[in-house]
Amino acid sequence: MLKLIALSSNMSIFLHKIYHWYEKHKRPLPWRETTDPYKIWLSEIILQQTRIEQGKSYYLNFIKKFPTIHYLAEAEEDDVLKLWQGLGYYSRARNLHVTAKHVSQKLKGKFPKNFNELLQLKGIGPYTAAAVGSIAFELPYPTVDGNVYRVLSRYFGIETPIDSSKGKKDFYDLALKLTPKKNVGFHNQSIMEFGALQCIPKSPDCENCPLNDSCWALANRMVAKLPIKEKKTRQRNRFFYYLFIDAGSFTFLEKRTENDIWQNLYQFPLKESVIDLNDSEIINLPSGVIPNSCNPTIKTISSPKKHILSHQVIYARLIYVEIKNSDCLKDQFIKVNKKDISKFAVSRLVDKFIQELKIN
Ligand code: ADE
Repeated sequence: MLKLIALSSNMSIFLHKIYHWYEKHKRPLPWRETTDPYKIWLSEIILQQTRIEQGKSYYLNFIKKFPTIHYLAEAEEDDVLKLWQGLGYYSRARNLHVTAKHVSQKLKGKFPKNFNELLQLKGIGPYTAAAVGSIAFELPYPTVDGNVYRVLSRYFGIETPIDSSKGKKDFYDLALKLTPKKNVGFHNQSIMEFGALQCIPKSPDCENCPLNDSCWALANRMVAKLPIKEKKTRQRNRFFYYLFIDAGSFTFLEKRTENDIWQNLYQFPLKESVIDLNDSEIINLPSGVIPNSCNPTIKTISSPKKHILSHQVIYARLIYVEIKNSDCLKDQFIKVNKKDISKFAVSRLVDKFIQELKIN
């Protein structure tokens, strides 16, 4: 109870100082110079995958190729995935495309100016609906992202785990209470930017923080402990064995059909295992994929490359196999001229192998 009363009196100081800080320190970003919901939506989806600095170049590439939502709607999915390449979590790019088609064709290119209607769009959850809604249309909804959790938990001393349902509700309620009726986009971005630049996860510079005279975590030596997370993310191991099939000027790719984060991306023919295979098992792998009649010869087997995703760790090896006749596998896989390989959208992991092979 006491904490609640103290919290209310702290709110206006908090907001006043954050706004002042934001006006002085905000980064000049291309999507901050517009209220075009298409551009804001695009920037927000990109920023869910990467930090602002890297996100900027992806954003500019997208806007150059697809200056309006109609261009994006008309694009081939492969081209969208190719521009997205390197950001990971490719379902975001597929949803981006689906939503662009919907808004362009069914909504005459206009994003809805209503929070619940924004939420109906594919790939738009509460965070994105609040970001687009507040920045483009001044809708009074808070953007509660990782930065906001950190800033609020530290400043107001909230120890409820952010990944518990009570935590999610408590933080959302507080963020909603803090949300003004006007300048909502400015408000939301100021807290996120403060979290991204000043109230950073590790060793924040509290000595030079404008909130240091009223921050609960600083007064209670809790800065390093907040926000609290309840669950450790469980990671499963997967073992990937890619076949790089060298057939002179050609090699072979396949398109991933599994409904997972890499759906519809291209890759070298892949054998997957739930256990780490030993050398003789690896040597036997190509024969399950390439018929004997192609006379495959294994040239090299790379050491494992560790690729860490949010819920899995992939150990990937590349088996380099030579065949003499490039027609031999053309019905089974996509036959690709090696110098065209960079036209295909691939995961970051496959791209690393391509770079090392120096084939394009
Ligand atoms: N993170 C994601 N979107 C942001 C924005 N518009 N401003 C600051 N940080 C962000």
